[in-house]
Amino acid sequence: MIVPQFLTKIDKKQLNNGVVNWSSPSNIALVKYWGKKEHQIPNNQSISFTLESCRTTTKLSFDRLDKPSNKFSFEVFLDGEKKLDFEPKIEQFFKRIENYLPFLNDFHFKIETSNSFPHSSGIASSASGMSALALCLMSIEKQLNPEQSNAFFYQKASFLARLGSGSACRSIEGDIVVWGEHPDIEGSSDLFGVKYPYKVHENFKNYQDTILLVDKGEKQVSSTLGHNLMNNHPYAKERFKQAEANISKIKTILETGNLDDFIALVESEALTLHSMMMTSMPYFILMKPNTLEIINKIWEFRKKTGLHICFTLDAGANVHILYPESESKAIYEFIKIELVAYCQNGHYICDRVGFGAKQL
Ligand code: DP6
Repeated sequence: MIVPQFLTKIDKKQLNNGVVNWSSPSNIALVKYWGKKEHQIPNNQSISFTLESCRTTTKLSFDRLDKPSNKFSFEVFLDGEKKLDFEPKIEQFFKRIENYLPFLNDFHFKIETSNSFPHSSGIASSASGMSALALCLMSIEKQLNPEQSNAFFYQKASFLARLGSGSACRSIEGDIVVWGEHPDIEGSSDLFGVKYPYKVHENFKNYQDTILLVDKGEKQVSSTLGHNLMNNHPYAKERFKQAEANISKIKTILETGNLDDFIALVESEALTLHSMMMTSMPYFILMKPNTLEIINKIWEFRKKTGLHICFTLDAGANVHILYPESESKAIYEFIKIELVAYCQNGHYICDRVGFGAKQL
């Protein structure tokens, strides 16, 4: 599958070497992407809050090779240490994007990356990592082709990031991003994420996300395997329809600021994602006992206080606690006193909605 709009003509001769740097955030999906077709095309639309503090910073140095190579030439470092185990993922990424960046074979690349969150936190770094790398590569393309517009730059960066990791296409911009063509979201596309184009109620400004690290180990189910389990899944068709309907619903919620409806939708999405994993073949339970303890505590506290605290989950045991800034004092106190005890080594991360990647 070739997407002609992202094939750019560039003069390969002008540039010999250089360095580009980007810092790119993670994101947390409200309506979840789970299930994909060939070429990283999602089976359903998703929408996410871009985060602010959980970030990957990537420095990409490039040096022109004596002659273009038929093999990609690159090395990867995490926190200064060479990471051979990252290479297959990057190799696959380069393969998927080489038609769109014809200069990939002309340079040796040194990729130096670090995360603001601990590597072994169980927080997926693929969204922030792949989006940062896609942006670095786009910065090289921009040097080769300075005329290109900013709009094109960011759209193509999201397009490329998607080919690295689906959710990464939602990590370029902020504060809310939609991925997947949807009749109610103008400009939305299966090929890249778009900044949410409608009015958002004050209630969602600076929304807080405290991430409780329940299990810091390697993911039990890789996302590739997880997405594949949606093929031939008995409930997949209904799930994809539900996600489409939930995007329409969240559009109303984001406009009216109805936090009770927001909570119901977001928690239902998280539990649906996990129930898809429980009902696939093979089947998985990705929550840990402490995940459930936390969820029950949140529900108890919400009932008692009427405060608008809710949870969401990725495909793992960690819990993202979402709440409005206006209620953050009481909710943060509750988290510290009641919930941190359920975290592995008491570790958690305070984050909030952010505004996207930054060139350094
Ligand atoms: C559960 O983006 O990691 O976080 O495209 O295979 O790299 P790949 O999958 P990935 O899937 C993330 C799924 C999720 C939900 C979401 O972020 O929407």
